[in-house]
Amino acid sequence: DPDGARRFDLGLRADGRSAFLPGRTTPTWGIDGDYLGPTVRVRTGERVRMTVTSALPERTSMHWHGMLLPARMDGGPHQPIEPGATWRPEWTIRQPAATLWYHPHAHGSTAVHVHRGLAGLLYVDDPGRAGLPDRYGVDDIPLILQDRSFTPDGAFVEDGVDSGTYGLLGDTMLVNGVHRPRLRLGVRTVRLRILNAANARVFHVGLADDRPFRVIGTDAGPLDRAVETTRVRLSPGERAEIVLTLAAGERVTLDSRGPADGTEPETGAFPLLLIEVATGAEPAAALPETPGPAPEPFRDTGVVRRFRLDQLDINGRRGDPARIDEVVPAGAHETWEITNGPYAHSFHIHGAHFRVLATEGAAAGPKDTVFVPPGASLRLAVRFGTDTDPATPYMYHCHLLRHEDGGMSGQFVVV
Ligand code: C2O
Ligand code: CU
Ligand code: CU
Repeated sequence: DPDGARRFDLGLRADGRSAFLPGRTTPTWGIDGDYLGPTVRVRTGERVRMTVTSALPERTSMHWHGMLLPARMDGGPHQPIEPGATWRPEWTIRQPAATLWYHPHAHGSTAVHVHRGLAGLLYVDDPGRAGLPDRYGVDDIPLILQDRSFTPDGAFVEDGVDSGTYGLLGDTMLVNGVHRPRLRLGVRTVRLRILNAANARVFHVGLADDRPFRVIGTDAGPLDRAVETTRVRLSPGERAEIVLTLAAGERVTLDSRGPADGTEPETGAFPLLLIEVATGAEPAAALPETPGPAPEPFRDTGVVRRFRLDQLDINGRRGDPARIDEVVPAGAHETWEITNGPYAHSFHIHGAHFRVLATEGAAAGPKDTVFVPPGASLRLAVRFGTDTDPATPYMYHCHLLRHEDGGMSGQFVVV
């Protein structure tokens, strides 16, 4: 735009048609296309202006998951977009490089809108930091993981009232909207930015032969030290950035394999992506020891808030868009203690980033969403944004989308 703000136009459509399965056509929703949306790239420090126009037949919204921004721009249930309307939020990017995403967040219909195909990636780029693979589609590859089930005529089985405790668990895995895709690489060192955009399924991503790889980033930004592992667990809403170094000419399968003991909303093992490295691939690249800066210090102010999760309640209540549950001072550092009952959940906070203080096996990077196993207690060191608005709340909620729609949420204002 003339004033220097960078403008993005997103058109929400309900008339998509995709061929996920051979010989079958699936009606979908999409953003500027048939299914899913474009990867939007913004830079630290710049002003961005989004123009979101809806051609959908019902009310929706568009939320910038992981973004620190004024509550009126957040795109939650308090910023609905009516059919035919355009919503124009704008804000300044004041956070480090990270892999974020966007998706609808309308009251009671998030699960169905995301499931039909409304979601996309939102990268924050920080041109001041170099050293990681960053050639989009060449050595920096987005992987949006989802599961779907299909009717015999090809339509999606929708996430509905009878889809179980956690919501729909599909039998067909999609990566970037493609079933069993193949990735041909001309490089040996590749960065994969993985988003769990499923409604309920937890993915445990690794290589079929269980070889180690490096985790370089979590939801809200890079790690200050890469962590070597063989699997990353991603519950709905979580992201991880990993780096693989492969041999020229080799073929490897990225798959998901997790515990099938009923403690998580997922089952079994399934391939996600076949990776084929060209015989003449570019040589492996050296990676920086420190993908990101050391974490900014958490000032323990002694403020502790406690959240007890049950099947669909938080602290014994269902979410109510008209009720403010918590009031947080701008820029606050607080400890949030999450205690869980007998069901798995995925806990997400808007307008804030956190680090997990006490949990077995989780990467210690900056996050905005965390898996909460049955019976677990987690302590989160939360840093809130500095935008204040006593009248417009942010949300915290379970990111299993049927739980979110079912009222497993709360609201807070930053003042
Ligand atoms: Cu990704 Cu409140 O959402
Ligand atoms: Cu969010
Ligand atoms: Cu839940």
